[in-house]
Amino acid sequence: MSRNPQLDEAARAILRRNDRGGYTVPTQGLYPFQWNWDSAFVALGFATFDRDRAWAELETLVDAQWDDGMIPHIVFHQNDDGYFPGPTVWATGKTPPTSGITQPPVLASVVRQLWQQEGADPAHPRLRPLFDACLKSHRWFHAFRDPLGNGLVLVTHNWETGRDNSSEWDEALARVDTSEVGPYQRRDTGHVDAAMRPQSHEYDRYVAILQFGRKAGWNHRTIAEQGPFRMLDVGMSMELLRANRDLLVIAEAIGDERVADELRDRIALSETGMDWLWNEEVGAWCSRDATTGQSSGLVTNASFLAFYARVGRAEQRARLIEALERMTRSATYLLPSLEPGSRAYDHRRYWRGPVWLVVSYMVAQGLAEQGHADWAARIREDSAKLIEVSGFYESFSPETGEGTGGAEFSWTAAMWLAWCGR
Ligand code: DGY
Repeated sequence: MSRNPQLDEAARAILRRNDRGGYTVPTQGLYPFQWNWDSAFVALGFATFDRDRAWAELETLVDAQWDDGMIPHIVFHQNDDGYFPGPTVWATGKTPPTSGITQPPVLASVVRQLWQQEGADPAHPRLRPLFDACLKSHRWFHAFRDPLGNGLVLVTHNWETGRDNSSEWDEALARVDTSEVGPYQRRDTGHVDAAMRPQSHEYDRYVAILQFGRKAGWNHRTIAEQGPFRMLDVGMSMELLRANRDLLVIAEAIGDERVADELRDRIALSETGMDWLWNEEVGAWCSRDATTGQSSGLVTNASFLAFYARVGRAEQRARLIEALERMTRSATYLLPSLEPGSRAYDHRRYWRGPVWLVVSYMVAQGLAEQGHADWAARIREDSAKLIEVSGFYESFSPETGEGTGGAEFSWTAAMWLAWCGR
């Protein structure tokens, strides 16, 4: 049942307009290439009206998978001078050109959904190549990004988390040396209001981390061990655990017992390992610095992915629900990306307050599955209202509902079609 046929049509029009043939740009101008986790969510939107195009989005993404298994965060299918840092800055030497880092591993979870929507046939012709690509990517995470051997995900650039300038990264970023960065010209602030984007002292650090990777020849062993930014990200750790669970469902269906066993081991490891991110003081799972061991102590929308990943004891989950309750006192619309009142909270600035519907969607899905249908419904309702009030923005102020970041955003349109507009 559609909630608003006019908005359905507007959402489909955005996806068609942002479609560049086999891949979709997140938004015109600001993000003119293919982004990894954007594409996964976009596929859920296409799946509501063009099944073939939904699968194609994912297939184009995995065509750019590196030989070692990494699925890059950006695939530069064509040149566009309106974006920095472009392919010549990353200099990964790949064809097609890509960035040198990855992004949240939500692909397997989306593949499972598309496949189940079509009847979960183990012999589905488009399943196997994507299953293999996801498995290879998950193995890459386990081989290169699990320095503690406890199933959590190490990120070596804040852009990998997708929550680009969350204040979870502030202290780690403050230690990054920017003295060698040199001059460069940002492009993002030419597309959207600079007050919503990261600040220039932050951007210098993003560039410095990139330059470290480039100097290391994108050797991910070196980068993970010696890089200037090493965080155990609560978001990606939860997302990978969930993605392993979803991949396991497919492995069991296709009868690959060896892989199923491997995934079960990984899942068990991450379930226990997640405790390392638990912060008893704030009552939530929080990102933690792998170099200093320090917890961010910040409750972000990613903390609530615990329901989606199905982790935690009853008392831990109860505390998380308390945090959700707290958020409703200051936020008109759930789910803010950072708890209001936290240091650096800003209801309009990237990942320091605004609501991102893709994270809300995963959180709501987890809450619904874990017996919190009321909270899931509240998040979904607020998400729909944000679009009804402001349109298909990249993100929204949790206080005023104002759209923030890029307009006509593909994954917001996709979330309307696949989730909150239904
Ligand atoms: C950016 O903001 O340009 C980053 O690449 C996001 O992934």
